[in-house]
Amino acid sequence: MALRIAVLPGDGTGPEVIREALKVLKAVAGDEGLPYSTETFDFGGDRYLATGKIIEDEEIQTLRKNFDAILLGAVGHPEVAPGILEKGLLLNLRFQLDQYINLRPVKLYPGVDCPLKDKGPEDVNFDVIRENTEDLYCGAGGFLRKHSPQEVATQEMIATRFGVERCLRYAFEFARRKKANGEGKGLLTLVHKTNVLTFAADLWFRAFEEIGKTDYQDIQRDYNHVDACCMWFVKNPEFYDTIVVPNMFGDIITDLGAMIQGGMGIAAGGNINPDPGGTSMFEPIGGSAPKYTGQDVINPLACIGALAMLLQNGGQKKAGDRVEEAIKKTTPKLRSLAAGRMGYSTTEVGDLVIDAL
Ligand code: IPM
Ligand code: MN
Repeated sequence: MALRIAVLPGDGTGPEVIREALKVLKAVAGDEGLPYSTETFDFGGDRYLATGKIIEDEEIQTLRKNFDAILLGAVGHPEVAPGILEKGLLLNLRFQLDQYINLRPVKLYPGVDCPLKDKGPEDVNFDVIRENTEDLYCGAGGFLRKHSPQEVATQEMIATRFGVERCLRYAFEFARRKKANGEGKGLLTLVHKTNVLTFAADLWFRAFEEIGKTDYQDIQRDYNHVDACCMWFVKNPEFYDTIVVPNMFGDIITDLGAMIQGGMGIAAGGNINPDPGGTSMFEPIGGSAPKYTGQDVINPLACIGALAMLLQNGGQKKAGDRVEEAIKKTTPKLRSLAAGRMGYSTTEVGDLVIDAL
């Protein structure tokens, strides 16, 4: 059956990086005899400014029903107040499509400058599995006596046994699969803050221990406080194999992860609904980079990496792996991964990946 992909170029440089990813998709699908279809949607800042609408619930249901996966360019428009599109589009899709896993590989590719002294591709190579539907992202909380000197604001960290357990099970399975493929050592690290967050972290830790002991004796369990984890990312990243982490801490450590793998030009992630029939969404982690828009200078590799993940997770592992290998052959040719300093234009980098396929 053809892979049905909804394409959401979004704002800023989104359309430019999407264009390159679609070029690569066409090339690899042609080579592999892989049937696919794409349909493009204009959700984003411009549409919001023109119509006042971001995305309707029915439109999300259409994405859910009619597509296997979504490829997203970027969200964020300089004329729209921060938070509106992020909440209205990105978080809305993650929640309504129940994409409860945010998978963010942290891999340093060959020839990429790493800000860590004496660390190379063999040292920076792990996966972060961030829970994607709970925690501080639920928007639970409120104000009391707003705008008065006695104002109170609360923001609640929500952990449900159900939400935590499905994320942990995905992570254990992921670590097991990596080990079986010779890509990991069968080590799963839970990152939280049990020494302070004695309720939410306690639920996570107990579930981690119980599930690990009962169903995943072959996987070694490890635990880090989130602050210590940041330290280890910089000092000993080679220690990590697979990390599982709640939403907010996962948001923070994956930006640090993106920097040690060469920056926002390369970092990709997947918002995954692993359930049968689930619609997952893949995206470059970086933003819409308004100041580089329309100049053909933005790095498309993160979006091409998101495409590789879409294929790998969408039952087309061989095609996805080929795209990832082509990215690895391309990175050594670039002067830098930063926008405007690659030594090539956006279009040319897309061409290099196709040549490497
Ligand atoms: C990310 C982003 C989002 C998040 C923002 C844009 C809402 O930072 O994908 O990591 O916090 O999850
Ligand atoms: Mn983030």
